[in-house]
Amino acid sequence: MAGGNATAGRAEGAGNDAEVAAYRGEILHFVGDPAVLGAAAHRHHADGVLVVRDGRVAAAGAAGEVLPTLPQGTRVVDYRGKLIMPGFVDTHVHYAQTDIIASYGEQLLDWLERYTYPAEARFADPAHAAEVADFFIGELLANGTTTAMVFATSHPASVDAIFAAGQARSMRLVAGKVLMDRNVPASVRDTAEGGFDDSRALIERWHGRGRLSYAVTPRFAPTSTERQLALCGRLLDEHPGVFLQSHVAENRGEVAWVAELFPWSRSYLDVYDHYGLLRERAVYAHCIHLDAHDRRRMAESGAAMSFCPTSNLFLGSGLFDLPAAAGSGVRVGLGTDIGGGTSLSMLRTLDEAYKVTHMAGHTLAPLSAFHLATLGGAASLRLDDRIGSFETAREADFIVLDLAATPLLARRMERAETLAERLFALMILGDDRAVHATYVLGRPVHTRARA
Ligand code: GUN
Ligand code: ZN
Repeated sequence: MAGGNATAGRAEGAGNDAEVAAYRGEILHFVGDPAVLGAAAHRHHADGVLVVRDGRVAAAGAAGEVLPTLPQGTRVVDYRGKLIMPGFVDTHVHYAQTDIIASYGEQLLDWLERYTYPAEARFADPAHAAEVADFFIGELLANGTTTAMVFATSHPASVDAIFAAGQARSMRLVAGKVLMDRNVPASVRDTAEGGFDDSRALIERWHGRGRLSYAVTPRFAPTSTERQLALCGRLLDEHPGVFLQSHVAENRGEVAWVAELFPWSRSYLDVYDHYGLLRERAVYAHCIHLDAHDRRRMAESGAAMSFCPTSNLFLGSGLFDLPAAAGSGVRVGLGTDIGGGTSLSMLRTLDEAYKVTHMAGHTLAPLSAFHLATLGGAASLRLDDRIGSFETAREADFIVLDLAATPLLARRMERAETLAERLFALMILGDDRAVHATYVLGRPVHTRARA
């Protein structure tokens, strides 16, 4: 079970029906980007307390300071020996590809034809969609991911399924119906007008309902006609606050195909720019084969990049240039990109992010890595005023990490002296076994069973 309970003071304050709980343990969270603010970007309390009131952060600080301020009778959950952090933010993932993770042998375009479209065709069946969505959300939470930006499929029922599964756990989710009206099998193809109408109906049904947000979701430029891309811009113009998610410049064959299909474009990214799809709340996965002009356009438009290292390695796509992205000032988040990606664990994803960055002669510092997986991801989705940090009044999505979850982790931690060393060992060696518990809006939604 979770840590032991104690109570502060005597009894629950009479007449006070606010729900307050406190969590005592090592606490780490970010208030800014370590690349910008250095050590001032994070808050670390070796013996800290996180106070949650009605699902929001009421306080986070040193135990010696916070404990005496707790209302009498406050329940204090004892997580001493464990690390409490904001939940992870996965900025790019396909729930409908859960069952094709680890499919052998192909690079992007053949992988889509051979594995992805057949798997996605099955989501015409609402019962199948509901079953996969429920499993997928359970896996996200078991991996400590409390917010995700999710591709459904081209079937509206697949969007209903993922939103319903997220809503059942009060999760913050951004998701949308895939738009693709050419160059794909009929079983997953829509039409420009039909996709527009379906997206509009889904926006009306789901966007802004509880913690759910809608994302207009053109799969990628090669599978949409120019008419469909133009209608994506119209959906965004007509529905302020709605997101956009897509893919760009992942694979060299894909880039060449886009140049053939859109001969007038300066670059792949320019196609999206032409239709007004570079803007705030637009998140593009991969962004590998971009030039400096493209990066600048991303930054000045307010769009964000999702760095998906396990997918980029698995599909043989290439190496994302994190320092170049950061240097251009664009927002960057981290994505697992299941099923091109190979793990739903953001710890596994950080491990590969480190290696990809290292291949290009740079390093990904541990504090920057955990910022990327939490507040940085939230900022790339422009949700950093709500999630990703323990600043007061943020939504209380948090995880409890066990840095001794495996014998090897425990042994390595004994040799680690600084916070940065411990975080680094955690991201290189850790996975879902290190996620002891996950809380959404202050409620436990996952507790790891003992091995
Ligand atoms: N590009 C277009 N569709 C996809 C997809 O499903 N996965 C990845 N990794 N890239 C894509
Ligand atoms: Zn993807």
